[in-house]
Amino acid sequence: MKAEIDGIEIDYSDEGSGLPVIFIHAFPMSRAMWDAQVAALRGVCRVITLDLRGFGKSSVPEGPYSMDAMASDVRALMAHLDIDGAVLVGLSMGGYVSFAFHRAYPDAVIALVLADTRASVDTHEGRERRFKSAEKAEREGAAAIASDMELVAFARSTVEGRKEILQRARTIIEANSPAGIAAAQRGMAARHDSTYTLIGIDCPTLILVGSEDALTPPSEAEAMRDGIPHARLKVIEGAGHMSNLEQPEQFNAALIEFIGSLEGRGGAIEQG
Ligand code: MLT
Repeated sequence: MKAEIDGIEIDYSDEGSGLPVIFIHAFPMSRAMWDAQVAALRGVCRVITLDLRGFGKSSVPEGPYSMDAMASDVRALMAHLDIDGAVLVGLSMGGYVSFAFHRAYPDAVIALVLADTRASVDTHEGRERRFKSAEKAEREGAAAIASDMELVAFARSTVEGRKEILQRARTIIEANSPAGIAAAQRGMAARHDSTYTLIGIDCPTLILVGSEDALTPPSEAEAMRDGIPHARLKVIEGAGHMSNLEQPEQFNAALIEFIGSLEGRGGAIEQG
């Protein structure tokens, strides 16, 4: 389905009923990365996924895409769907967008799931790498970025024994536009430091991290757990950075348990 938001089209899915749970995808993926979560959760809650601007079947406006602009798109989609408050599940870049969302619209956040992400900003070298990666996407296309991700985003056991997961990720990445990938890289390079956002996050928060996540490692997850007043941390064993794709059973079980723990909150604002 498509929503017309701020002059662009945002592609989304909306399944199930009850507590609204919005899934915000990683870079350089699309909402297709959440297929296993949609299947497992649509009988439990209202599951919404969206393609962020520049990705999947959403429009590819001119960049860079700030995390604030993406958060504003999520809020506008909520308005389109008549949702006042939601649980946000953000993985990696989706986590950066969730921090920006919480800064701008704290009252619209019922609970947070921060997966394989971090509150800290990039180092100078990290920003330089992003600018180079943005140029590479423009020059060589999405397939080159998919190859770069393969080198860093997965657990050893995934790389060695579960090629179908690498192929699935590649298919998702290669369907994206190089311009959208570049615009998001440049937007991430300019993102705010969310370290100071942590203390103000007063909603229930679940932090998930792959035990072998080399991009946003367990130490970053521990720092978020220590900084957020009501946060719990669960390590997804045998997963790298793409923990929801690599170990969907563990990831889904953690989500279902967390959503179950929000029972009263969901009932109070049940919508849709
Ligand atoms: C992601 O998975 O969204 C990216 O690895 C985030 C990043 O590049 O910092």
